[in-house]
Amino acid sequence: MLAAALALAACERAPAGAGAAADAAAEQPAERVPGASGAIDPATWPEVQWPFPTDAEAERRVDELLASMTVEEKVGQIVQGDIASITPEDVRKYRLGSVLAGGGSDPGGRYNAAPEEWLALADAFWEASMDTSGGGKAIPLIWGIDAMHGQSNIVGATLFPHNIGLGATRNPDLLHEIARITAIETRTTGMEWTFAPTVAVPQDDRWGRTYEGYSEDPGLVASFAGVFVEGLQGKPGSDEFLDDRHVMSSVKHFLGDGGTSGGKDQGDTEVSEAVLRDVHAAGYVPAIAAGAQAVMASYNSFHGRKMHGHGPLLTDVLKERMNFGGFVVGDWNGHGQVRGCSNTDCAQTFNAGLDMAMAPDSWKGMYESTLAHVRAGTLPMERLDDAVRRILRVKLRMGLFEKPKPSARALGGRFELLGAAEHRAVARRAVRESLVLLKNQGGILPLSPDTKLLVAGDGADNLGKQAGGWTLTWQGDGTTREDFPNADSIWDGLREQVEAAGGSAELAVDGGYRTRPDVAVVVFGEEPYAEFQGDLPDLMFEGGRSGDLELIRKLKDDGIPVVAVFLSGRPLWLNREINAADAFVAAWLPGSEGGGVADVLLRDAEGDVQHDFKGKLSFSWPRRADQFANNHGQENYDPLFAFGYGLTYGDDGDLAPLSEEPGVDPQSTRSNSWFERGVATTGLTLRLVGGDGDAMDVVHPAAKTADGSLEMTAINTEVQEGARAFAWSGGGAVQLRSNSPLDLERETNGDVFVVATLRVDALPTDGEAALIVGCGEDCSAELPIGDALAQLPQGEWTRLGVQLKCLRAAGADVARLDMPFALRTGAGARIALSRIAPSTDFEHKVDCATQ
Ligand code: BGC
Ligand code: BGC
Repeated sequence: MLAAALALAACERAPAGAGAAADAAAEQPAERVPGASGAIDPATWPEVQWPFPTDAEAERRVDELLASMTVEEKVGQIVQGDIASITPEDVRKYRLGSVLAGGGSDPGGRYNAAPEEWLALADAFWEASMDTSGGGKAIPLIWGIDAMHGQSNIVGATLFPHNIGLGATRNPDLLHEIARITAIETRTTGMEWTFAPTVAVPQDDRWGRTYEGYSEDPGLVASFAGVFVEGLQGKPGSDEFLDDRHVMSSVKHFLGDGGTSGGKDQGDTEVSEAVLRDVHAAGYVPAIAAGAQAVMASYNSFHGRKMHGHGPLLTDVLKERMNFGGFVVGDWNGHGQVRGCSNTDCAQTFNAGLDMAMAPDSWKGMYESTLAHVRAGTLPMERLDDAVRRILRVKLRMGLFEKPKPSARALGGRFELLGAAEHRAVARRAVRESLVLLKNQGGILPLSPDTKLLVAGDGADNLGKQAGGWTLTWQGDGTTREDFPNADSIWDGLREQVEAAGGSAELAVDGGYRTRPDVAVVVFGEEPYAEFQGDLPDLMFEGGRSGDLELIRKLKDDGIPVVAVFLSGRPLWLNREINAADAFVAAWLPGSEGGGVADVLLRDAEGDVQHDFKGKLSFSWPRRADQFANNHGQENYDPLFAFGYGLTYGDDGDLAPLSEEPGVDPQSTRSNSWFERGVATTGLTLRLVGGDGDAMDVVHPAAKTADGSLEMTAINTEVQEGARAFAWSGGGAVQLRSNSPLDLERETNGDVFVVATLRVDALPTDGEAALIVGCGEDCSAELPIGDALAQLPQGEWTRLGVQLKCLRAAGADVARLDMPFALRTGAGARIALSRIAPSTDFEHKVDCATQ
């Protein structure tokens, strides 16, 4: 009730005209005043040949359309909504020109929706855009989706290795083929637009998006960017160009996404103009020459100025100097971070050169405020017309005005192509070519298949881990084996070949074998993540706390040779694991074709090598965990394994023992959780507040408030004292206090939840409970969660999530949370807590208003 009222108030605050932008700016101090060193001289940037000569007939059609469109219709073309927040009816009414499906948005809100549902929704949106019954012009809608490593939002699609793995292949022809297949599979579900390729040149491997980049080397990125765009779109000028078997590409994220200080996602890129141009823009030159139809603006800033508001780079450089003739699309509410803007109001971004704002959940406000800006002249009609022209030209190049609905196009509904055998064969080849061999002591590899093989490690039979982020869900979390009908785990591939050759294979994730093996393959690695959720403080693998090292050592102690296969989105410091294992393979995030690993690790039945290692590092491998920005070509370059390293079977693979000094203090390694195994993490304090209001900070595993109303004890989970149990006999609250305020703007924008891993043993007698956050003096937000708690299974551990947007709607300033979590309830309640963290992985959620 209270939440709903506050939500209303928040809606009313939503600015609808130019005047309100200043208030919004006060709420979102995301951008600093631009620094002087961020000056740009377009004349020093490369000139590119845009491959489309002026098409007089198309220009005539654009002119004609434009002349007949109302201002409302024009504005509809430059605002893009997300399918989680817009309906076909909205498109019919507002005449929007485009929708997207974000990583976490799916038909019916189900991440595993069937391909048929995607296609039906594509038809419904298209039909709405073509429906002129309420007046207005029929302008076909385009649907953009993150088909980042295959059509990776759709169950059954072929999942290619993430870009970091493709970088290791050094094979542009293969990349072309992957792009071509991705386009085909994307068309089956009705979309004609992918937000790919990412041509970031990541310079700091702590960045959570490192794996989306092909390489730290601009030349390597450039060698892929153009061919990938051509594979997606077809060759400009040919008949196949943007036909029904191809999709339009958006090259992203322009510009400097891989160069932010500290490797911070959405951060500030403070490099020189020359580095911005020669390193970070390298991929755009061939991509524009190949005719990329869209470029996506980046979240990052250049010397304090957000790219979504950067006129010199978006307009003077990209459009004028580099002759980019497609349109510039924004990133997910990226415009809202420009100084003076909010998610629902930002003329500045269009004036700087953006042509289509990605306003996922904010499209209506954005539409209305943009309309007001055009009427007021704060967004000149000329600029609006130019943006619309660019979008219409793309639609004409795709021949969309002449096309039937998505399901009636050449590949619409051809779902047998999703995960088709010939597509999977290409993905499997990509896996083989992406594997990088770092150590092969005594030539233990390749293994004979006629052996007793143990396959261990939690990555061995784990498609989610193998595929990484941007797979069915945004973070790639929360999936099950059934979600991957057309896929083989690494275990599947090894078992099949070993058994076919007369050997025996056993899977034991924890290494506890039944049959004593001749050799073990241990597959382990990072949990899936996407964007800022994957940012790290250093390159320690899981902060040095994973159990994988013990697993490898235990097998070695048993006298069993170990081949380690590491799944990750970046090189990490693993010297201890590398020392402990006999062979070490960097497998990146291979995707659906785990069988490609067996193809390389195992000999064939005749004892011959099936496939030798081909992969070469496209990112330098660190000697210490503090070498996160050690890139080849730099002074003081001192990696453990240099850019380009990768053994083959012909090489001597012996490696002298490596130093096990990480170079960082593992204790200081922060995780992104606030409360872990019953203990507040570094920088946070656990506080108990009694029913009388008296507060006490807790340091011991057991505590009781002075008034006796709230008592805490340590309890065991799968680990000793892995949680804290709280018992209320009066009112009172459990609070997590942050020593310095936490800025959760990005998390809030990205639909992240506050997730508590908890066990409800008894409900409060009066049924009342609240989740509270604090944001400084006189700033807090409170959500009733009594009903949500009552619905949880009692006596069982579960994960309950509250969307950060709900807390913002309830009045929290998410940019400065000094109490990111508090649970207040009353007599009778008994609740245990083991972990609290910002996350997208939960089993139950609190229903609340997000706006
Ligand atoms: C990401 C983009 C992505 C977009 C749509 C953003 O947050 O930065 O890479 O294309 O969302 O999902
Ligand atoms: C969306 C992603 C997007 C992210 C932005 C998520 O909720 O699903 O597509 O990239 O937010 O941070």
